[in-house]
Amino acid sequence: MGFGVTRIFDGVYRIGQNIATQNMVEGTSVYSEQRISFEGKEYRIWDPNRSKVGAAIRKGMKEFLIGEGSKVLYLGAAEGTTISHLSDIVGKSGVIFGVDISARSMRKFIYLCEKRPNIVPILGDASQPMTYKEHISGFSIDALVQDVSQKNQAEIFLKNARAYLKREGHGYLSIKARSISASESAESIFRQETKKMENEFEILETIPLEPFEKEHEMVVGKKK
Ligand SMILES: C[S@@+](CC[C@H](N)C(=O)[O-])C[C@H]1O[C@@H](n2cnc3c(N)ncnc32)[C@H](O)[C@@H]1O
Repeated sequence: MGFGVTRIFDGVYRIGQNIATQNMVEGTSVYSEQRISFEGKEYRIWDPNRSKVGAAIRKGMKEFLIGEGSKVLYLGAAEGTTISHLSDIVGKSGVIFGVDISARSMRKFIYLCEKRPNIVPILGDASQPMTYKEHISGFSIDALVQDVSQKNQAEIFLKNARAYLKREGHGYLSIKARSISASESAESIFRQETKKMENEFEILETIPLEPFEKEHEMVVGKKK
């Protein structure tokens, strides 16, 4: 074999140029991604063009604190492409609450959740976090991940962090500049959005997601 598997973070591996997670549901792909078997384990290649978290890791994220057993709130679940990899990472002792406003995406997402019991689907509006509190109550959320294409991305993120993220919990906010303004420079939008977070988060890293995602940045922070 011409490749090896090396660990980057808890549950995240490098295989050649690619990153990958160990498949929790062996023998199946989620979004037609490649699967690779190595020393008795099956890995799913994590496509950075289809996942902001995957892109941020490929761009050299320094620390990734979602690991086995983590409880994660994920806003903008869509059909669950990124969540499927987080599901591999957190394993059977972890849980991911995936919120999305689109009933159409939710139908495909629910199919994924049936195969992966550590994902809880929530059809809801992330800008109104109290509307889904009955699903989450009783859990202490270790990490909040957000990928919603909305104008008020930082506000939505902060509302959810206040409601659910534990103190010193980690936040991963993917900012899409063009959902906020069509004319301002992406750099200035990223600065403004990051500034909104500074009162409540210690900013650990800001990672530009180019070339995988144009005019997107991932902000990683720790809740104060
Ligand atoms: C770019 S896609 C997310 C892709 C997904 N994070 C992934 O990596 O697989 C953005 C998603 O945000 C959802 N969305 C937009 N506004 C929302 C809101 N207010 N509450 C919840 N979801 C929202 C959309 O329905 C869409 O599915």
